[in-house]
Amino acid sequence: MEKKYNRTLITAALPYANGGVHIGHLAGVYVPADIYARYLRLRGQEVLFVCGSDEHGVPITIRARKEGCTPQDVVDRYHAMIKSSFEGFGISFDIYSRTTSETHREVASDFFRRLYEKGEFVEKESEQYYDEEAGTFLADRYITGECPHCHAEGAYGDQCEKCGTALSPTELINPKSAVSGSKPVLRKTKHWYLPLDRHQQWLEPWITQEHKEWRPNVMGQCKSWFDMGLQPRAVSRDLDWGIPVPVEGAEGKVLYVWFDAPIGYISNTKELLPDTWEKWWKQDDTRLVHFIGKDNIVFHCIVFPAMLKAEGSYILPDNVPANEFLNLEDDKISTSRNWAIWLHEYLEDFPGKQDVLRYVLTANAPETKDNNFTWKDFQARNNNELVAVYGNFVNRALVLTHKYYDGQVPACGELTDYDRTVIGEFKGVKAEVERLIEAFRFRDAQKEAMNLARIGNKYLADSEPWKVVKTDPDRVRTVLYVALQLVANLSVAFEPFLPFSSERLRGMLNMERPDWNRLGATDLLYEGHRLGKAELLFEKIEDTAVEAQLTRLAEIRKANEAAAYKARPVRADIAFEDFEKLDIRVGTVLECERVPKADKLLRFLIADGLENRTIVSGIARHYKPEELVGRQICFIANLPPRKLRGIESQGMILSAENFDGGLSVITPDREVKPGSEVK
Ligand code: 2FM
Ligand code: ZN
Repeated sequence: MEKKYNRTLITAALPYANGGVHIGHLAGVYVPADIYARYLRLRGQEVLFVCGSDEHGVPITIRARKEGCTPQDVVDRYHAMIKSSFEGFGISFDIYSRTTSETHREVASDFFRRLYEKGEFVEKESEQYYDEEAGTFLADRYITGECPHCHAEGAYGDQCEKCGTALSPTELINPKSAVSGSKPVLRKTKHWYLPLDRHQQWLEPWITQEHKEWRPNVMGQCKSWFDMGLQPRAVSRDLDWGIPVPVEGAEGKVLYVWFDAPIGYISNTKELLPDTWEKWWKQDDTRLVHFIGKDNIVFHCIVFPAMLKAEGSYILPDNVPANEFLNLEDDKISTSRNWAIWLHEYLEDFPGKQDVLRYVLTANAPETKDNNFTWKDFQARNNNELVAVYGNFVNRALVLTHKYYDGQVPACGELTDYDRTVIGEFKGVKAEVERLIEAFRFRDAQKEAMNLARIGNKYLADSEPWKVVKTDPDRVRTVLYVALQLVANLSVAFEPFLPFSSERLRGMLNMERPDWNRLGATDLLYEGHRLGKAELLFEKIEDTAVEAQLTRLAEIRKANEAAAYKARPVRADIAFEDFEKLDIRVGTVLECERVPKADKLLRFLIADGLENRTIVSGIARHYKPEELVGRQICFIANLPPRKLRGIESQGMILSAENFDGGLSVITPDREVKPGSEVK
């Protein structure tokens, strides 16, 4: 039987406050969660939308160490930045707080203590790597060494990235601390574990039988965890950044970041609603929905529910619509490689165009599989859909009304069969959008909303009011009346998806706050209602704007390739006498020109201190001929002459090949006499 819910609590994954947020985060988590929250609010439901920054964990301490500041400085900086990015994109959280808040420390400590007192943890001693120089235990990621399987250097304590094998730190050969570079030693330490193995009994049927409706990607991951058999998980760490473990004998230990972060959803609710927060977390007529990316599935579907159940008084999530990943220009988004479009940068580069990005990210949402963002697609969707379909329809309807009826909604005359068909089509959109949003299929839902604009555009094109106006003014009144109702409907239908544009459109229509329940109605604007000023709802995005972004990405890609460049291993030794046979000389370029019909070749005339010589070299793609005239270069002087495109080449010019294939000629550091030997 369907459960009866009276309110919905929506959470969006708490982003780590050690970097900005990018389009992958927006597409995967925050835009879908926001669409959902806005939609439910529009329907008049009781909704709470909670988020905040995740401010604990090892990466934050490492970053602070690198930057020579405190972890608090790091999280203060990024918390402010992330918060303002979300505001910029209209993500309508009811609260955006942080896990360094006092309330959170209390709630998380109490939560731990309660589980501790109920005997829900297992205490275990184990040996872990300790960095004596830095005076700290080391997280798995911060120990590197030789992989015991493929013997690659630089494998991490949890995984070798070369051969993909999962590792534990003690398997590494010659382990090294990534913090100080010293050799870590094993030390005994005690931790508290959540015995997930004991929870599998109820978790497995709860997900696989009672929540068959969860997305296949979510179900798939859960099942594979169950198949492997759940293991106890440590919920404490030896670290000096985090919430101290609130029990005796736990000095120097903090709650593991993945224990305290999801509790952040609870503490942020409590911070906002100190008196009524429990209704949201402990009454089973509340529906809890977690929006997350696929890397968070196990924590939200298995670990956090186990924590909630162990505590005993909390509800469990009703759904966890996790998304797959978004790639950028066919490459995995990566913070460390700066391969991302950062929200704060987008807001600067495209002011006022938040909805364009929201639209494109929803249109390409990685709901069922990884998806790809490209700037060309961004431009095409803006120009061909938002401008050419939605904006164009709105503009035509409004401009014509201003022109013919002085900006007042005309009276509707008699409807034709065609009008009735069109009205019927747009009435159907409401149920369809609802069905899709409620099934978390936001990309299809947005497509349906866009259909309204397509219907409108076609309606105007078919009815041609600008032609009929001379012969049949009654008909024009009816057509514009119907078109204006469609426009008003668009502002309602798009409210969850494109809130900024809907608001602007309502300004142009001089319309009050929308009511979702009236979507599909043909009397959203009454006869005689005075419209506001017509403006363009969307603007074309020019090639130059897209090219600037592509150039920026190309520079980043090049910098990454340069950083990843590894020199080729040296070839086998040669005899010294063989080296002495090479006659390498310096020459001065007297003439240089392209070889006709050969796009790689340049012909040089070189002063070599003897009789001058001609050399043909394949560097035309790397230099313009005039750049080289007068320069000194090095060449091999004693190679047998070779004919290239009919020209006899008497030697070979030496150049260095860069990581990207670029060639750079070798020149002596100081000017020397032509013919000088290179030794
Ligand atoms: O993956 C992440 O970015 C985590 N900071 C998400 C935490 S979600 C929740 F549990 F707080
Ligand atoms: Zn390996």
